[in-house]
Formats: sequence, structure tokens, C-alpha cells
Amino acid sequence: MPRRPARTAQKTRRPQRSAPRGNPADWPLYEAEVLRGLEEVARTELGTIRGLDVVAAGDEAVRFRYGGDPDRLGRLRSVVAVYAVRVWDVPRPRGLLGHQQLGELTAWLRGVVAAGGHRSLRVSAAGRDSEVMERLTAEMAGALGLPHQPEDGELRLRLRPAAGGTGWEVLARLTPKPLSARDWRVCNREGGLNASIAYGALALAGLRASDRIFNPMCGSGTLLVERALMGPYEAMVGVDIDAGAVACARSNLKAAGRDVEVAQVDALSTGLPPRSFDLILADLPWGDDIGTHGGNAELYPAFLNEMHRLCSRGGRMVVITHELRLFERVLADSPWQGRELAQVYSGGHHPKMYLLTRG
Ligand SMILES: C[S@@+](CC[C@H](N)C(=O)[O-])C[C@H]1O[C@@H](n2cnc3c(N)ncnc32)[C@H](O)[C@@H]1O
Repeated sequence: MPRRPARTAQKTRRPQRSAPRGNPADWPLYEAEVLRGLEEVARTELGTIRGLDVVAAGDEAVRFRYGGDPDRLGRLRSVVAVYAVRVWDVPRPRGLLGHQQLGELTAWLRGVVAAGGHRSLRVSAAGRDSEVMERLTAEMAGALGLPHQPEDGELRLRLRPAAGGTGWEVLARLTPKPLSARDWRVCNREGGLNASIAYGALALAGLRASDRIFNPMCGSGTLLVERALMGPYEAMVGVDIDAGAVACARSNLKAAGRDVEVAQVDALSTGLPPRSFDLILADLPWGDDIGTHGGNAELYPAFLNEMHRLCSRGGRMVVITHELRLFERVLADSPWQGRELAQVYSGGHHPKMYLLTRG
């Protein structure tokens, strides 16, 4: 499944800036690109940042003003990417080729590149093959000294009519790679969960320092690492039936600097006593790249029963799956109480996250 391939994001250190100052209406404008379904999670995470004012939230985007150090935005975990936004009072993109506008545009972009360390450029815009767009792209590439790589250029620029007004706006991605490509991911596997989705599921399920956490079917360890980075817990262990997955999860945890036990064990026969865990995190096989639909028809009911045995009274289980009809049917016949947390749209898949509670 096209859960995003892992790439190691580049980090560029900038000197710390002092606390936000001045009138919030004058703070620089940014836009966070968000997976559909995670907008509320993103708003909540953005709301924890001092000196950040959300000005608009829509599908797959949250727009905000921020007066603090932009480095902080590169550490957001729920969003795909953050873009700096500038608006020019021009009626058409051709206006950006004017002497003054082009000077302002390239000076602004030089600042973005100096902070982010981008090594190439690409432009996303309606009509990007038009003569004007091609000229604009060539001017920016020349002025910034960056090669134009139309498919995967690191400085991703988006050009569009200004939101709710006249003029055109340019959005420049702050980081060379998407933020969902975490620094800790040194190993990926087929079916690796998008880290922003993992973060969203964990945030929606709620963090408790007293939780004894179990991550059966941990794969490359995305849920383990993201949970370990989010705050304290009582205990956490991951298992996978596949030796390669166990090694992969261990490498990622090591890269994240987190000490979590991972073992090669069948989640359906761990030999652990009843009620060993308070929170179970399960990204089940979706039946396409990992597992099969036929196999899942047997796996899902057995899994729900065994996890019910391992979960404490009042405990919770987060389930992420794309096998929606099967899962909802099996859930209805299980001893769990369940509710949907969110449905996320990512790379052609639209998995749901559920929160199950054990009475
Ligand atoms: C969808 S993948 C998990 C992906 C993981 N969340 C990640 O980010 O890499 C499902 C995993 O379940 C594992 N698995 C399947 N059946 C299992 C079982 N009975 N016990 C333990 N692991 C199992 C597979 O080996 C696979 O790694």
C-alpha cells in the first residue's frame, strides 16, 4: 500500500529567536497541508504552539500566522508539510515577472532556502506548462541557483489565486521533505504506516501516563516510535510475527533514541496473562499489500477475541484498517464497544481509525 516511503528529512539548525513579538496581524503567514480527516488533529497540535494564530481551516489545510521561530513548525507531527505564504497584488501570474515583484519573490525565497537547505525546485500550479509559468520557474531557479526538478524538487512552490481576495499567492514548503517522512525512519517496509496517521490515531485516543501499551503486528514500529515520542507511559511492548519487521522496528526505535522491547511473537498466542495491557495499538493487515482478504476474514475475529482477553477492564484498543466492511461486521459480533475516530485519505487509501473500549 502506498503508505509513504520513508525518507530521512534534512535538518538545518537556525539560531533561536525570542518569543513572538508585535501585532499578530503582522506575523508571517503559513499554511499547513494536512491529510483529509486529520484537520482537527492538526488544529489541536497547532493550538499548543505559543504565538500561533489559526486564521482559517478548510479541507486538507490550516492557515495561520506565527510570530515565533519557524524551526518549531518543522517539528509538527500531524501535518504533511508547512508552507510559508506571501500574497502579491497582481491580477495574473505574469505580474510576478515584474522587476519589483520578482525581486521581492526571490529575496523571500532565498530566506526560505537558507533556513531549509533545499537543493532543487519544483512548481505546482494550474497551467505550469504555460509560457508565463515556465519563465517564472526559470527566473526563480536561476536566481536561487537551484535545478528545476518538476517531479520531486525539494523547494515545492505552489502558485494560486489569493484566498478570499485579489492577487496571487505563492506558497513555499519550508522543509525539503514532507514532515511525515520522519528523521527516525531509517527502515521502512511494505505497509509501513504514514507517521502523521499514527500520530493522529494516538492523539485522538488520548495519552495516559499509566497505560501499559501493547502494539501487536508492529511492522516497522511506526506506532511504537510515535507513541514513545509523545510522552510518558507505564510500559510498552511490540510484537510481530515476521523477523524482518522486528529488526526494522528495533532500528527505528534506536534511531528515535527510545528503548522499547520488540519481540518476534504471534500476536494471537503470546502466552501473556489476561488483562496485561490498558491500551492496545493495532494497525491490522489491510488485505492488499499485507495479508489477504480471505486471511483477514479469519484473522480479524480471532484477533478481537484475543485482544479482549489481554486488555484490562476499562482498557482501550485503537484499530487502524482499510478493510472496513469486514472489520465493522466482526466488531459488531465482538465483546468490544467501538466508535470511529476518523477516516483519513492518503495515497489512494482511506483507512479508518476506531477506538474500542472493553467493558
Ligand atoms: C499493516 S502491517 C503493520 C505496519 C506497521 N504499522 C508499520 O508502520 O510498519 C501488519 C503487520 O502485521 C504482522 N502480522 C500479521 N499477522 C500477525 C500475527 N498473527 N502476529 C503478529 N504479527 C502479525 C505482519 O508481519 C505485518 O508486519
